[in-house]
Amino acid sequence: MITHSNSAQREMAEVCVNKGNEELQPFTVTVGATVPTGFEYTAAEEVQEKIGASARVSKDRGRIYFEISTDHLHKVHHLKSVDNLFVVVKHYDDYQFKETKEDALLDLQQLAPVLPWNNALEVWKMNNSLKKKRTRRRGAGAPKPKLSDASEPEKPHAEPDPSQLNENPGNACPQQEPGTDGEQDCDIQESEVKPLKFRVTCNRAGDKHSFTSNDAARDFGGAVQEFFQWKADMTKFDVEVLLNIHNNEMVVGIALTEESLHRRNITHFGPTTLRSTLAYGMLRLCKPQISDVIVDPMCGSGAIPLEGVIEWSNSFFLSGDNNDMAISRTVNNINHIVKKKQDGGSISPGLSIDTAQWNLCNLPLRTSSVDSIITDMPFGKRMGSRKKNWDLYPSCLREMARVCRPGTGQAVLLTQDKKCFAKALSRMGGLWRKLHTVWVNVGGLHAGVFVLRRTTAVFGTTPEDVRDPHMGCESQEVNMEEKVHTPRSE
Ligand SMILES: C[S@@+](CC[C@H](N)C(=O)[O-])C[C@H]1O[C@@H](n2cnc3c(N)ncnc32)[C@H](O)[C@@H]1O
Repeated sequence: MITHSNSAQREMAEVCVNKGNEELQPFTVTVGATVPTGFEYTAAEEVQEKIGASARVSKDRGRIYFEISTDHLHKVHHLKSVDNLFVVVKHYDDYQFKETKEDALLDLQQLAPVLPWNNALEVWKMNNSLKKKRTRRRGAGAPKPKLSDASEPEKPHAEPDPSQLNENPGNACPQQEPGTDGEQDCDIQESEVKPLKFRVTCNRAGDKHSFTSNDAARDFGGAVQEFFQWKADMTKFDVEVLLNIHNNEMVVGIALTEESLHRRNITHFGPTTLRSTLAYGMLRLCKPQISDVIVDPMCGSGAIPLEGVIEWSNSFFLSGDNNDMAISRTVNNINHIVKKKQDGGSISPGLSIDTAQWNLCNLPLRTSSVDSIITDMPFGKRMGSRKKNWDLYPSCLREMARVCRPGTGQAVLLTQDKKCFAKALSRMGGLWRKLHTVWVNVGGLHAGVFVLRRTTAVFGTTPEDVRDPHMGCESQEVNMEEKVHTPRSE
């Protein structure tokens, strides 16, 4: 850990960001991550598995923290359950905010110059270097993600712009040509010192504060600007300083990601495309094994099976939907990933995934042939209707029970229509047993991920197997979903 007197800090920070070529001994920092609310413990499990660190789940739901040595920093970019990453400058477990607005804000202003910025800024710089390498590896000519539908509101995932990732921002090289070696160029132009651009983002929760998040961001930001002599820029910033306040807990951090990592994989978004991070959490709940057959029978744009096949390439994934637009999005998304693998020189560019158009209530699959079903069901809000769900859900559960292996088969099902789901499940008690529920936030909606185990009952021998001829899966091809272009992901 590097420690310095306050008066020397700014100089150190300047040295830190201006001169990037000195070899530093590895040191340990705390990294924070925002994760889909409800999947904090799943994310902590992944951190333990991939980084070997035990993560602390914050009181502030949707965040975890873990320690990492800087020589392992690259590993944070292998995490699949995190949306955004940041390095912690300082964590206050019980910050005593002053009662009046003026006093509380004055305190924040006085805090900026005395915070231990150096290590966090060093990590920010190392991270820029890592991101630059990753971008180069992906290839400058890699196709830009595009929308399948011009009216689609989802912003496509943009590759980080190398000119924004200023490794030596003090020696900024904004005119750097793609493919040239930025580090060398920056060294050459060392004398042209440009101030860093920054912004402060404040996330505040709690009802006992006398100030708003805007007040805090503005006043703390002003003090940061004065201390570092950086330039404030709300849109084209090099450094994003985070001020996360939750009741009496306050964390000052520096962002390591520009935009949420949940947009990975998907280039052709649908109206209810699931965040890849949430899809990953659902997949982890069913613990895919080698050779497992895993089906998403209502795949939409394919977020779940795509995430699955990338992370668990030794399982076989089948994705289907009854909507032809959804199928074409899934196929396009798969093709994009295959192309990316080919461009990256992968020796096994294919993916163990297939796609079919089908009606979930009548799947073209053998009885007892599937290990796991993971799907995101129509909530009946943007997709289908609550009324239709009363018929759809029991039919789904019955057909899923038919194709799943008795005794070992499992289903991980996401829905916000909890009442309808509970009722349908109670009617299928002989075929499915509920193991547990993970409560999650999907685009502001409180939804449940229901983990079910197929009972040992042989399909065709329980009263639940008998299909009511009046109850079925009406086609939901023409439905609200295609008309309301509101993204489901947060
Ligand atoms: C909530 S969306 C799934 C979104 C998906 N997870 C994604 O990332 O895009 C539900 C999907 O169920 C499909 N669906 C509804 N009824 C169906 C049925 N009977 N058979 C097959 N698919 C159905 C819809 O077309 C829709 O794509």
